[in-house]
Amino acid sequence: MNNEEFLGKLNEKLALIFTDKAKVESAMKYSLLLPGKRLRPLFIKTVCEDLGGNLEFVWIPAIAVELFHTGSLVHDDLPQIDDSPLRRGKPSCHIVYGNDFAILAGDGLMLKAFQTLSQAHETTKSMLFESFSKATFDVLIGEALDVEYTGTKRTLPEIIGMYEKKTGALFGFCFAAGAIVSGKYHLVERLERIGRVFGIWFQIIDDLKDALLSEEEAGKTTGRDKALGKVTVLDCLGIQETKKFADNLFEGLQKIFERLGLNKTKSLARNVYEMVKL
Ligand code: IPE
Ligand code: IPE
Ligand code: MG
Ligand code: MG
Ligand code: MG
Repeated sequence: MNNEEFLGKLNEKLALIFTDKAKVESAMKYSLLLPGKRLRPLFIKTVCEDLGGNLEFVWIPAIAVELFHTGSLVHDDLPQIDDSPLRRGKPSCHIVYGNDFAILAGDGLMLKAFQTLSQAHETTKSMLFESFSKATFDVLIGEALDVEYTGTKRTLPEIIGMYEKKTGALFGFCFAAGAIVSGKYHLVERLERIGRVFGIWFQIIDDLKDALLSEEEAGKTTGRDKALGKVTVLDCLGIQETKKFADNLFEGLQKIFERLGLNKTKSLARNVYEMVKL
């Protein structure tokens, strides 16, 4: 299945999850069906393909991770966190549904993620749960560190540690899930660590986008990190050195993908790299 077909099917499945019976469900549905890049599901699928797994087992973790990720974005955009009115090219959840419903919708998306994962195939369920519950808790800790660090001065290792949790953890789950659904259990821990490093790279690129792109280009509120006193790698390194740092990290990852024979994953990562022209 090519990525376009996968994304088409994934979006069909996501569209069936929520009804409009209650306002909170409409709010969840609204944010979930906005045109996100769906990168986390794509990485599960691609790692699974590289490892020769059966794509049938990818859907449940793919849907779960997109649900959780969307919930984390709904909360992240709230006035008390990043105060960002634009998300995925449209008004953020709290702008359309109010802060109260955005808090509840974010909770609901995360809870639905766990309910979805409970439908995983018996052979994969307990490993997926272990990995997902750890990753999602790390996202919470990372997001809380982001808030705690705001307006303070932090070292590069502290900032990278925060990125590893708030963004790396979920990519770590995706890479691990690709190995779990393929039955390649000996690779799970290694891929989890590699996914986390990919997430660190992805967050650095996201920070560069926040600093350098317009809202039209990014499809979300930009210039927010500086305005809010957010602590980012750019504070320590400046724009040029941050770009070099990110490129070195990326080239290191490309070599690791190659060494492990993860050729499709390598080219998906390259596509992500080319998607953001900085
Ligand atoms: C945005 O993630 C939040 C970060 C972790 C940097 P994405 O850039 O993957 O957002 P969507 O899902 O495409 O909207
Ligand atoms: C958010 O990081 C990461 C999450 C875990 C939600 P950002 O705050 O940089 O993400 P954007 O820029 O709003 O998408
Ligand atoms: Mg944030
Ligand atoms: Mg934000
Ligand atoms: Mg950002």
